[in-house]
Amino acid sequence: MGSELGELFRITTFGESHGPGLGVVVDGCPPRLPVDEARIQAALDRRRPGQSRLVSQRKEGDRVEILSGVEDGVTLGTPIAMLVRNEDARGKDYDDIARAYRPSHADFTYDAKYGIRAVAGGGRASARETIGRVAAGAIAEQLLARWGVELVAWVDEVAGIAAAVDGDAVTRAAVDANDIRCPDPAVAAAMIERVEAARKDGDSVGGVVRAVARGVPAGWGEPVFDKLEADLARAMMSIPAVKGVENGSGFAGTRLTGSQHNDPFYRRADGRIGTRTNHSGGIQGGISNGEPITLRIAFKPTATIMRPQDTVDRDGNATVLAPRGRHDPCVLPRAVPIVEAMLALVLADHALRHAARQLF
Ligand SMILES: Cc1cc2nc3c(=O)[nH]c(=O)nc-3n(C[C@H](O)[C@H](O)[C@H](O)COP(=O)(O)O)c2cc1C
Repeated sequence: MGSELGELFRITTFGESHGPGLGVVVDGCPPRLPVDEARIQAALDRRRPGQSRLVSQRKEGDRVEILSGVEDGVTLGTPIAMLVRNEDARGKDYDDIARAYRPSHADFTYDAKYGIRAVAGGGRASARETIGRVAAGAIAEQLLARWGVELVAWVDEVAGIAAAVDGDAVTRAAVDANDIRCPDPAVAAAMIERVEAARKDGDSVGGVVRAVARGVPAGWGEPVFDKLEADLARAMMSIPAVKGVENGSGFAGTRLTGSQHNDPFYRRADGRIGTRTNHSGGIQGGISNGEPITLRIAFKPTATIMRPQDTVDRDGNATVLAPRGRHDPCVLPRAVPIVEAMLALVLADHALRHAARQLF
C-alpha cells in the first residue's frame, strides 16, 4: 500500500535499499510517444550517489533497464517497467541498526507498523526508492515537452545560506555547473564549504530546493481535493526528508496585505491573459493560470550522522548507536532531480486529466 501515485499517468515504485534492485511500473503513458532512454539515464545519473564529496560514497552505476512498454524508442501504451539493480549493497554496515533505532529515521516507525523490516539501508525509507520516481519522471517530462513545459529545480538554501536566483531565467546547465546544484556561484561556494564542514564534523545540514515549471497552460488541476497545489504538496512531501512545501508566496505571503499580494491581470503581447506579479505561484483555485508554477521544498538535515547517538533498542533499553555506513551529509544536491521528477509526474497526470475533458 502507498507506493502508487497518479490517476491517468500512474506510477508504482518497488524495491529496497539493499535488495536485488529497485524500479517502477508506469501505467497510462499514451502510446506512440518517442522516449529517449539516454534522458532517463541522465536523470538517474544526477540522482546517483558518489557524484561528489558532498554526497554518499555508495558506488552505484544505477543503469536503467527498460523491461516493457517501449519498443524502438517509442511507447506502446502498455505498462512501462524499469529496473535498476543494486550493485554496492553492504548489509553489514547495518548490523547495529537491526537492534538500535536511528534517531529521526524510519527504523522505529517501520517496526511499529509492520513488526518486521528490511534493516539494511532503511529498506523502502531509503532514498534509493526515489530511483523509480526519477526514471518515471524522465518519461513524464518527455510527455510534458509536447505542451512546451520546462522544469528546473535548484538548491536555493543550505543551512540558512540563501541564494538569489531568477526563477524565470534559470537553466539546468547553470544548476549543474557546481556540485551543490546552486546556480548562484558565489553562494554555491559558501554552501559547499558549509557541507564540507558538516561532513568533517560528522554532522549533517538541511536546506531548501526551489522549483519552477514554465510553459504550463492555464486550466490544469482539478478542484476540490485534487487542487494542483494540493497534489504537488502531497508529491513533494512524499520525498524522504521533506518537512515543508510552499507554493508561490507561501508563508512569506502572510506578511503582505491583499493590495500588495494580489496579482493584477493584463493582456499580454501574444493576446493571452497574464498576471503582472506571480505571488500565486502559477495556481489559483487549484488550477494553473498560465504563469510559472513555483515551489519551495524544505529538507531536514540528514538523520544518520557520523557521531555516536543516544537511542534505544527494540526492547526499549538505552544504548549508543555507533557511526557507520555511507551517508549524505546534505541530501539537497541529489534531491534536485527528485523534485523535478515529482513535479513532472503530477503535471503529466493533470495534463492527461485535463485533455480527457476537452472532447467538446
Ligand atoms: C537524495 C536523498 C538522500 C538521502 N540520504 C540519506 C542518508 O544518506 N542517510 C539518511 O539517514 N537519510 C537520508 N535521506 C533521508 C531519509 O531517507 C529519510 O529521512 C528517512 O526515510 C525518514 O523519513 P522522513 O525524514 O521523511 O521522516 C535522504 C533523502 C534524500 C531525498
